[in-house]
Amino acid sequence: MPRLGVNIDHIATVRQARLTIEPDPVWAASLAELGGADGITIHLREDRRHIQDRDVRILRDTVQVKLNLEMATAEEIVQIALQTKPGQVTLVPEKRLEVTTEGGLDVIGNRERVGAVVKQLQDAGIEVSLFIDPDVNQIEVSRELGVSAVELHTGCFADAESESEQDHELRKLQVAGAAVIERGMLLHMGHGLTYRNVTPVARIKGTCELNIGHSIIARAVLVGLERAVREMKQLVSV
Ligand code: PXP
Repeated sequence: MPRLGVNIDHIATVRQARLTIEPDPVWAASLAELGGADGITIHLREDRRHIQDRDVRILRDTVQVKLNLEMATAEEIVQIALQTKPGQVTLVPEKRLEVTTEGGLDVIGNRERVGAVVKQLQDAGIEVSLFIDPDVNQIEVSRELGVSAVELHTGCFADAESESEQDHELRKLQVAGAAVIERGMLLHMGHGLTYRNVTPVARIKGTCELNIGHSIIARAVLVGLERAVREMKQLVSV
C-alpha cells in the first residue's frame, strides 16, 4: 500500500495572501497527521511565495512522520536543507513565473549540478528523491546518480483529456514504474492527482509514496467552510 504524503504549500499560500499568521502550515501538518498522512511535503521556493524558512525550521521539529522538502538545486536552498536536515529532499525544477512545477527535473541535462547536490544531501544523511518525467533515460541517469528514490511526474496523466489519452499516459507511468523498480529504487508518484484519478496510479506496481497537495487542500476548504461559517455566525449573533 503506498504511503500518502500531503503537500501543505497551499495553506501557506492563503497565509501569504495577507502576509499574516493564519492559516499556519504547522497546524495544518498536525491535522494532516491526525488524518493519517504518512508524510508532510513542503516546497521551499526561491521566491518564497508560500512556504517560508520559519515553516521549514518549525516543521522539522514538529512533524512526526516523514518531512519531505521539495526544492530546486539553488545554492541558498541547498544550504537551508543541509542545516535543517529534513528526512527526505525531492529535487524539482523551478521557474520563477510558473504557477506550479512544470515537467520533471532534467537530470540528463543537469547531471553535474544535480549529482553534486545529491551527494551533499546524502552525505548529510538526507534521503534524496528526484522528480522526473516517466522517461527511461531520466530514470537510468537517476540510478547512476545513486538516489534511493524517484518521483514520477503524473501531470500528463492528470491532464489527459480523453480516456484513450489517459490510458496511454497511465501505461507510460506503469512502464517507467517498472524501470524504476528494476533498478532498485523506490517509486514515488505525484502531481495533479485528485480524488477522481488517484486510484489507477496508486495501483501501479511498486508505488510506495504518493504526494498530493492541491486536491486535498481544495477539498479541505470546502468540507470545512460550513463549520467555519457556523462558528462566525454564532459570534456575530449578539
Ligand atoms: N510532487 C511534486 C514534486 C510537486 O512539485 C508537487 C506540487 O508542489 C506535488 C507532488 C503535488 O502536486 P499537486 O499539488 O498537484 O497534488
